[in-house]
Amino acid sequence: MSRNSQRVLLSEEQIQRRVRELGERIGADYPGGALHLVCILKGACFFLADLARAIQRDVVVDFIGISSYGKGTTSSGEVKLTKDLDLSVEGADVLVVEDIVDSGITLHYLVQVLEQRKPRSIRIAALLDKPERRVRPVQVDYVGFQIPDRFVVGYGLDFAERYRNLRDICVLEESAAGG
Ligand code: IMP
Ligand code: MG
Repeated sequence: MSRNSQRVLLSEEQIQRRVRELGERIGADYPGGALHLVCILKGACFFLADLARAIQRDVVVDFIGISSYGKGTTSSGEVKLTKDLDLSVEGADVLVVEDIVDSGITLHYLVQVLEQRKPRSIRIAALLDKPERRVRPVQVDYVGFQIPDRFVVGYGLDFAERYRNLRDICVLEESAAGG
């Protein structure tokens, strides 16, 4: 796989600027108390790390593992919990932190799971949104960027577990996906 097969869609600078804006808005939107950040593994980890530091208030960080994708670039439609939260969210203001909303299947499922645990509120922050691909309704409260229906990698997003450490978000060209 050559590096030429990735085309920058969102640069590191664009991403960092937008994440700071989101963090400021989130910090201002919530009343007192700690904000409970629920990061969806693994893709959202990079976004979480930057977003948490851009939020000027107390936060609690926890992780949940959900997988709806195999090794390909299209959803299997199957969702499974691969790692549960360590902490209770009962009575908490929960902000789910996700890398990208595509079909909406993952977040639709997660919101249902979390609602059963009686948090005070649930909102969603997603760095990327591909609205054209939606098959399940999801209300995303904080969106970094709306992007077209292309498969992207970098800043946490992977293709078959690769490319997560790219600083930019790139479109993976066909040649790379076939390699
Ligand atoms: P959804 O359940 O279809 O909304 O899929 C959400 C998950 O699919 C995300 O958390 C990503 O892990 C993965 N995903 C969707 N689109 C892309 C993409 O363009 N690149 C990398 N992963 C993606
Ligand atoms: Mg993901």
